[in-house]
Amino acid sequence: MAIIIDKENQIFSLHTTHTTYQMAVGKYGQLLHLYYGNRCEGDFRYLLTYYDRGFSGNPYDAGEDRTYSMDALPQEYPSCGNGDYRSPAFVLQNADGTFSADLRYESNQVVKGKYAIPGLPAVYEEEEEAETLILTLADAGSGVRVKLYYGVLPKLDVITRAVRVCNEGAAAVSVQKAASMALDFMNGTYDILHFHGRHGMERNVERNTVFHGEQVFGSRRGASSHQQNPFLILADRSATEEFGSCYGAALLYSGNFKGETACDQYEQVRFLLGMSDELFSWKLEPGQEFWTPEAAMSFSDNGFSKLSANFHELIRRHVCRGKWRDIRRPILINSWETAYFDFNGEKIVDIAREAAKLGVEMLVLDDGWFGKRDNDFSGLGDWFVNEEKLGGKLSQTAEEIRALGMEFGLWIEPEMVSEDSRLYQEHPDWAFVIPGREPVRGRYQLVLDFSRKEVVDYIFTQIAEVIEEAGVTYIKMDMNRHLTDVYSAGAAEQNQGAIIHKYVLGIYDFLERLLTRFPDLLIEGCAGGGGRFDAGMLYYTPQIWCSDNSDAIARLKIQYGTSFCYPISTVGSHVSAVPNHQTGRTTPLETRAVVAMAGSFGYELDLNLITEEEKQQVRLQIEDYKKYWKLIQDGRYFRLTSPWQQNALTAWEFVNEDGTEALLQAVTTDTMFNPPVHYVFLKGLKEQALYRMEGTDQQYTGGALMHAGIPVPQMKNEYMAWSVHLKEVR
Ligand code: GLA
Repeated sequence: MAIIIDKENQIFSLHTTHTTYQMAVGKYGQLLHLYYGNRCEGDFRYLLTYYDRGFSGNPYDAGEDRTYSMDALPQEYPSCGNGDYRSPAFVLQNADGTFSADLRYESNQVVKGKYAIPGLPAVYEEEEEAETLILTLADAGSGVRVKLYYGVLPKLDVITRAVRVCNEGAAAVSVQKAASMALDFMNGTYDILHFHGRHGMERNVERNTVFHGEQVFGSRRGASSHQQNPFLILADRSATEEFGSCYGAALLYSGNFKGETACDQYEQVRFLLGMSDELFSWKLEPGQEFWTPEAAMSFSDNGFSKLSANFHELIRRHVCRGKWRDIRRPILINSWETAYFDFNGEKIVDIAREAAKLGVEMLVLDDGWFGKRDNDFSGLGDWFVNEEKLGGKLSQTAEEIRALGMEFGLWIEPEMVSEDSRLYQEHPDWAFVIPGREPVRGRYQLVLDFSRKEVVDYIFTQIAEVIEEAGVTYIKMDMNRHLTDVYSAGAAEQNQGAIIHKYVLGIYDFLERLLTRFPDLLIEGCAGGGGRFDAGMLYYTPQIWCSDNSDAIARLKIQYGTSFCYPISTVGSHVSAVPNHQTGRTTPLETRAVVAMAGSFGYELDLNLITEEEKQQVRLQIEDYKKYWKLIQDGRYFRLTSPWQQNALTAWEFVNEDGTEALLQAVTTDTMFNPPVHYVFLKGLKEQALYRMEGTDQQYTGGALMHAGIPVPQMKNEYMAWSVHLKEVR
């Protein structure tokens, strides 16, 4: 039993294999948080302390008891208006305009299996091991009930959370803030690790002390964003890759979010994650309800490495769905950095022909195939084939590509519209523009109002037609600007605050429709590279183009940060041309392939333009990927060194489930005369087992490789790579 309820004492315990989470109903009915961490048993109410605290008010029903204050007690779902002045998880605006909700425990329910959320991505569990606990809290003043959902996945050491707000009162209310999760810690000193960045340099790791004040991480851009990622780690100050305790929280949501940490006046720490409350309000008429997105939490007392492994397994098998979840993704060639807007049907087939000869399995036709689209000034929204440019039908080009033994994929950017397009001429009110104001442009384009069903209907119909006609088996779905001027001509004045969230729901609806209509379609997410790389998107798109920066050396940092939460199978990574188009850097072809292989592999350069010797290299790379994909896609991933440290070497490793096979990869990021030797220390092997290095007679014990390390051969030139496969000798 993962969920244990002590009815008499109203204590709720959630157990996973290695963790325990406990809460209890307090003296006056508030739901208090007691513990989250290593698995242990018992009644943790002894941890609660009661003191008379100045300027921390007391609930009315506490009478003369001045030792019971919501401002000091650890809460399960802190709400605004009950005397807690810390950052709330829940803010309700009542019919009379006041901001208050006093949530008291009402009932519980345990359900077999993992709950789902209508219209939103959620963790799922097929083995029926999971259980759901629903705790209902009620606000007597408004009649609103807040239902806290907990999904317990014991084997994964994961607990998910979502909140359902039901207006069971007689008057309309409005939800101003509803975080998906709150964690109150009664003690401890913590660091917060977050993943910030920018276009072309996503998910840089930063570690800061949780201080006395609120630290906020989030996005108000309408997408989860390049700038911040909806994944945070709260770690003991001493935690490292392999040691120490840490809590990870990932939000399954692709829009505005907010993560908060704060140390309060009594050295207690609050950790919140959910949709952003900025630019948001959601009106609830009597009888209506609102679901927050889901947050997935995990705890590790073996450092970040184990925490990452938990999230990798969760996302790989319980968030990603469909046929592509478990099988090898096609090795593709993408036309973007290969030809940009400069192509016709013949050129595309030429690119595909050479790629097919070398073993590439799919051609993805990127931006430029539709409407009037020879640059980024025009065409978005007109999802009909530009036959003039292609020199024929798209189905013809696709047919020629299939005749080469390849599959055909296509790029789309459904949420956008160019002012210079037929769609905008016909439906200017479908774009986000505030009446009476000039809109902000981004990449010369405007954003379509996906909160409106008729807009999604129209775009979906157009795109589905193209997919059908050309036999498209892969879609790269892009989003190349952030939201501004959010105004929906389809919504009443008091509902404009709901539009950004409804826009995200519209995207999910669009994706769900695509998958329903084309169940075998592989969709790759993208938003100017990794600008919407989140666990919500991964429910629909099992891989995401990791960054518009395809430079192998820059990718070391980007992919390193990405790996803290997201499994390698979700990371879109391609070999591109040198000098690199974004950074101007030249790296060896082998290095580019080694880095791209730590992802769902492909090419993004014209293979007609490389030398015969390089073509032979590409052939071998493709063979290697086919040989190692299972290890890469399903194996445990270890970060061996950090590209952020001045150690001139970035190394990582994949190990299969039973520890009999490993792939060790390393790239030098500096070149030196007479350099010291780098030793890397492997992980996850069997101590006693004997491993042979492929292509040599060298054998090592797992223990030696892990504890004594292995010297990395001296690499003469800059940016060279070393990749070795180790297999247990039976
Ligand atoms: C974005 C994507 C690129 C490419 C271009 C096309 O920047 O991230 O990979 O698809 O759009 O315009």
